[in-house]
Amino acid sequence: MDANTPLPHLGGLTATEFLRDYWQKKPLLVRNAFPELAFRLNEEDLMELAQEEGVEARIVLEKGKTPWELRRGPFDAKAFKQLPATHWTLLVQAVDHYLPALADYLEHFSFLPAWRIDDIMISYAVEGGSVGPHFDQYDVFLVQGFGQRRWQLGQHCDDESPRVAGTPLRILQDMDTHFDETVNPGDLLYVPPGMAHNGVALNPCTTYSIGLRAPALAHMLERVVDAALEAAGSNQLFADTGRTATTQPGALTDADLEALRAQVLTLLDDRETLRHALAPFLSEPKYDDYEPQGEELSLEEIREALANGAKLRRDPASRCLYTLQDGQVHELFINGQKEWYPPELTAFVALLADHRLLDAGQLAPWLEGDEALQWLADQMASGFWFLDADE
Ligand code: SIN
Ligand code: CO
Repeated sequence: MDANTPLPHLGGLTATEFLRDYWQKKPLLVRNAFPELAFRLNEEDLMELAQEEGVEARIVLEKGKTPWELRRGPFDAKAFKQLPATHWTLLVQAVDHYLPALADYLEHFSFLPAWRIDDIMISYAVEGGSVGPHFDQYDVFLVQGFGQRRWQLGQHCDDESPRVAGTPLRILQDMDTHFDETVNPGDLLYVPPGMAHNGVALNPCTTYSIGLRAPALAHMLERVVDAALEAAGSNQLFADTGRTATTQPGALTDADLEALRAQVLTLLDDRETLRHALAPFLSEPKYDDYEPQGEELSLEEIREALANGAKLRRDPASRCLYTLQDGQVHELFINGQKEWYPPELTAFVALLADHRLLDAGQLAPWLEGDEALQWLADQMASGFWFLDADE
């Protein structure tokens, strides 16, 4: 994706402009950004998904047994029949994992690294339905499905922002509204992290949340410390050659603290250690019990399917990233594990990891010999890529 091409789904902004002026800073409303996404799923589809074991689903009732009641799935069909006529929302997480074609929409956001993207959550709300005024820690692109929703945006919040008591949801007590718009099918609203927002369904509607993720610095520090100890060993001691005499032998002086700080940080401040610790971490799948289901296919079967129009799709529930060394593709990580590949295939690995969907034309240079295809077949057997004939 060219960073300087105007993108219709960003209202004609280029990725560079969006990242410079809006990303993590201010909201953006784009009318009719994804008209074809709006009717992908209906409420029955979502309710069916919400009944499946292992699917993360919630129902929020504004006027439930308690205010802002939260119910967790899986639900049975009866659970939906017992809901009131208005003021509730069903939310289903990671719908892209179950409907891989939905994940293709994430290609529109490939100006962001894949490791920053979390999932596509879809909500279905009846009239008056909302999850309450709240803020999220993550950036989100909200795409309106069918129906209409009124979005209000407010102040920047943090953990100190006053919340409504008596509900497991983090509902804000106050909203200092500075944005008040009704969205229609296909409209996109980008909301930066920490911004108060409240979306109320004006009529039955669906909303697609393209959610970002950001690793917690504390989690990364844990991994980096482990990797640093592995790299340096735990028997390196503080050294203070060239020390000058102290007049405060009872004190931990600022000068000593600075020397201690510098030597401790030297252990952490190593690009190789960081890469070694963080690349597998950032490639861990959303659900840690996730086990991809692969299929064994012969090279001929793969060639034939692609020739007949099938596309190669990356498993949306798996996470994959490659590292670079001196600008060259170095290591490949999938679902937290390092994956071997023949060194001649670095460009092929980058092609696969940079795209969610590839067709025979894009793969053509790699389909002639057997080497790339054999490696791909092994990856497909592991479930990381699969052929989709329905495209
Ligand atoms: C919704 O889809 O109802 C809520 C999405 C959000 O506020 O993050
Ligand atoms: Co939100």
